[in-house]
Amino acid sequence: MLTIDEAFRKFKSRLELNDKEQKNASERHSEIREFVRSKFSIDNDFLTGSYARYTKTKPLKDIDIFFVMKESEKHYRSKSAGVVLDDYEKALIDKYGRAAVRRQSRSINVDFGVEVKEDDKTDYKILSIDVVPVFACGEDYEIPDDDTGKWIKTNPKKHAEKATNAHQAYGNEWKGLVRMVKYWNNNPKHGEKPVKPSFMIEVMALQCLYGGWGGQFDRELQSFFATLADRIGEIWPDPAELGPPISNSMDPQRVASAQRALRQAAEEAGQAIHLVRQGKNGEALKAWRALLGPMFPLS
Ligand SMILES: Nc1ncnc2c1ncn2[C@@H]1O[C@H](COP(=O)(O)OP(=O)(O)OP(=O)(O)O)[C@@H](O)[C@H]1O
Ligand SMILES: [Mg+2]
Repeated sequence: MLTIDEAFRKFKSRLELNDKEQKNASERHSEIREFVRSKFSIDNDFLTGSYARYTKTKPLKDIDIFFVMKESEKHYRSKSAGVVLDDYEKALIDKYGRAAVRRQSRSINVDFGVEVKEDDKTDYKILSIDVVPVFACGEDYEIPDDDTGKWIKTNPKKHAEKATNAHQAYGNEWKGLVRMVKYWNNNPKHGEKPVKPSFMIEVMALQCLYGGWGGQFDRELQSFFATLADRIGEIWPDPAELGPPISNSMDPQRVASAQRALRQAAEEAGQAIHLVRQGKNGEALKAWRALLGPMFPLS
């Protein structure tokens, strides 16, 4: 039978980006790039967000692509953020059809209609891409925010540096733990995601995982869940100190329900740890799978 440590290592590797998935993401990127470039003047485009930082969880969806527009598109910058999103939405509907295209507050989501099979398997395919129209602004970028109608500043390089530093300071286990908790957050058992946006888990992890890697996944997760529960109600600024707080969409009601879910997760983690102490390894594996989701292995 798998030990808990072996099970976590297997789980961790299942949540890692593999070559086939990267190949599929790159093919989708090329396909979307070709189309978007035929409709808008684009200087540069690149895969970014959690996908590029290796903090995206499985199944792989909503992979961000920044489309950096040329000066000739700058007229959008003086208009409400919704205008550029309207035009990207219309263009993408022409290519992918109404049903595949979903407007979001800072991007347009294109769904490829990939089926999620048993145990969250997707045949190494990515489910969807978030097309983000952006302008370069010195070292930073500006992205449209439909909620306020304004453009907000961001800097993926700074976010990536913070994640890399945190990962190294945590025995190279930080990104794995972030992916595991984001996987828990995506579990349909919650109904709506407890922590929204899930980027907030990564932002909180920059401060909630401290003191260095302790050597045991189960204990690390238990205390990570507990600290997240304690601190979910705080204001969490953009780690690059450019955009609005990442916690802006967590209203008091959402904070309360996320706190309940996180506390329960910490408690269930504690019970799973106790099962191992009682020599009930098989029961402990089942408890972790029930807590985290079907990619956690039983064998
Ligand atoms: N409030 C913000 N201010 C500045 N930059 C932000 C803000 N929110 C998100 N970003 C940047 O935009 C990227 C894409 O946002 P998104 O919400 O898709 O997060 P993500 O890290 O890609 O997580 P997920 O795995 O949920 O897609 C983030 O990775 C981050 O670099
Ligand atoms: Mg994203």
